[in-house]
Amino acid sequence: MFRTHHRSQGILGSFVACLCLISSLIVSFSPVKAVVVPPARTEIGVSSYFFDLGQVQLTDSRWLDNQNRTLTYIKWVDLERLLYVFRSNHKLSTNGASSNGGWDDPTFPFRSHMQGHFLTAWAQCWATLQDTTCRDRATYFVAELAKVQANNGNAGFAAGYLSGFPESDFTLLETGKLTNGNVPYYVIHKTMAGLLDVWRHIGDTNAKNVLLSLAGWVNQRTAKLSTSQMQSVMNTEFGGMNDVLAELYYWTGDSQWLTVAQRFDHAAVFNPLASNQDQLNGLHANTQVPKWIGATREYKQTGTSRYLDIARNAWDITVNHHSYAIGGNSQAEHFHGSDAIAGYLTDDTAEGCNTYNMLKLTRELWATNPSANYFDFYERALLNHLLGQQNPRDSHGHITYFTPLKAGSTRGVGPAWGGGTWSTDYSSFWCCQGTGTETNTKLMDSIYGYDSSSLYVNLFTPSKLKWSQRSVTITQTTNFPVSDTTTLTVGGSGTWAMKIRIPSWTSGATISVNGQQQSITTTPASYATISRTWKSGDTVTVKLPMSLRLIAANDNKSLAAVAYGPTVLSGNYGSSTLSSAPTLTLSSLKRKSSSSLDFTGTANGATVTLSPFYDAQGYNYVVYWAVSGSLPTTT
Ligand SMILES: *[C@@H]1O[C@H](CO)[C@@H](O)[C@H](O)[C@H]1NC(C)=O
Ligand SMILES: *[C@@H]1O[C@H](CO)[C@@H](O)[C@H](O)[C@H]1NC(C)=O
Repeated sequence: MFRTHHRSQGILGSFVACLCLISSLIVSFSPVKAVVVPPARTEIGVSSYFFDLGQVQLTDSRWLDNQNRTLTYIKWVDLERLLYVFRSNHKLSTNGASSNGGWDDPTFPFRSHMQGHFLTAWAQCWATLQDTTCRDRATYFVAELAKVQANNGNAGFAAGYLSGFPESDFTLLETGKLTNGNVPYYVIHKTMAGLLDVWRHIGDTNAKNVLLSLAGWVNQRTAKLSTSQMQSVMNTEFGGMNDVLAELYYWTGDSQWLTVAQRFDHAAVFNPLASNQDQLNGLHANTQVPKWIGATREYKQTGTSRYLDIARNAWDITVNHHSYAIGGNSQAEHFHGSDAIAGYLTDDTAEGCNTYNMLKLTRELWATNPSANYFDFYERALLNHLLGQQNPRDSHGHITYFTPLKAGSTRGVGPAWGGGTWSTDYSSFWCCQGTGTETNTKLMDSIYGYDSSSLYVNLFTPSKLKWSQRSVTITQTTNFPVSDTTTLTVGGSGTWAMKIRIPSWTSGATISVNGQQQSITTTPASYATISRTWKSGDTVTVKLPMSLRLIAANDNKSLAAVAYGPTVLSGNYGSSTLSSAPTLTLSSLKRKSSSSLDFTGTANGATVTLSPFYDAQGYNYVVYWAVSGSLPTTT
């Protein structure tokens, strides 16, 4: 979200969301249903696919715990409160419900953005777990939104409009007079994306109708603008309007939605990226990433390679030149110069939404080219940024907006308007609370992929896959990343290739089938392939040796994070404050035990414990160190 305006106004509240879940559903697969709503079109340029949400289940792990906390929250949150701003804006009774605070406060300019995230999270919960509470919440909410939308005549709004703030904000936007800090299309995108997910995952036709009506309103509103007026409109953050409208074309086959999607092609951002120029310096980061995701969708609907170039170049530039060791990007929500890292290690680094969006972009690109590099980044960012963005001590799984990288900082340091805390049940509703509920209800969505002849194992996460297309199941058992080994057990039979990602951080990876080491190539940053006729009960054991490594700031080799295999470690400084990055004597690092990822080391002459950054909540930490000497050869 764009909060520059709000920061100065000091009007924002604080924080996030949680999720929870039903333990009985974890244990066995629910039968995979046929796709609820099949897409109307075939994507162009796509050669590899992810499984539907219901085909993969998390099993006991840190990941499942996160999901559980978020599910607890989304199944608990009061729907009447969430309807308040929609009903009041569209002149319906709020039925005595309390209003919310934070970004859903009735006076907050872009109120009603959060509800779209809840729709997506409930839809994902249903799709994954067949959880009827989530389904019923989603369909009730949409039915109420339909009533809100139907009251537009009485509210003085054009047909199809649906939002928590007046339609007149769009008139101000179109005429360059919007000064209240609203980002109105950003909110419309969230609402549309949530409705799309409720339609396609649950099959709710109300959601489809409300969505098409709102999309029709967007069409009317934008059709009357000249190209240059439309380009000016896009100087205000507009989320992934090109994304959701291209999706609407994919799901309905109605080409008018592609036309509307392409009105949201932002030339000032797309043109330099099309020619691979890094002009990101100074741009609000999370305003850009959704446009790039939209570019991949527009590519897949048109086959126009320029869209793919834009998205691939944006990904390369951001991952290689604007990202911290934990995979996050941005400082004070903005991109800075290419490779400018060392000077931007502050309390407001790594906005959560940006990484949520970068992961979406990564998936879209992988589908066009299943390169292991994409999952090196995916693993790095999900494990080291988003997993620990949620507070594990909070049963509602509240989150932090930024992930501070300043030496001696702590998670849950919010922006000033956030009260310097974790998100809360009703008084935050920040953008990152919204994307956090989505992330933690789809942690399983990218573990596996497939193509016509292969299964891809992208991530090492305890899980069960029902590959119904081949009547095969895969059970992955692992304590990764504490352990360097994962075991995949095949149920069912057939001839196909298993492609296992060999991460860039390993060397000497080995793969055994039924205890016999295979002589196959295991080059880091590629997929190792086992081609075989599988029998039920076959087990594949993958060992990915880990070692300590440094991830230096791009612009200063002496300032570095320490990782063990995929896991970024951070120093535990308790409640001590620090004025600068301590100097870590690299040769002093020693793993405490093979059953944990705790290490000891010497920094500024004192002993410090380093542990996985994803578990660093509730204390002051150090991620980037002034490094001295070299890493020990054995740990
Ligand atoms: C899920 O979270 C709730 C609330 O935090 C907890 O009571 C429950 O035991 C958890 N269930 C599982 C399966 O972890
Ligand atoms: C690089 O980082 C080190 C460690 O913090 C610091 O001492 C040094 O001054 C930095 N170099 C530059 C050029 O900023």
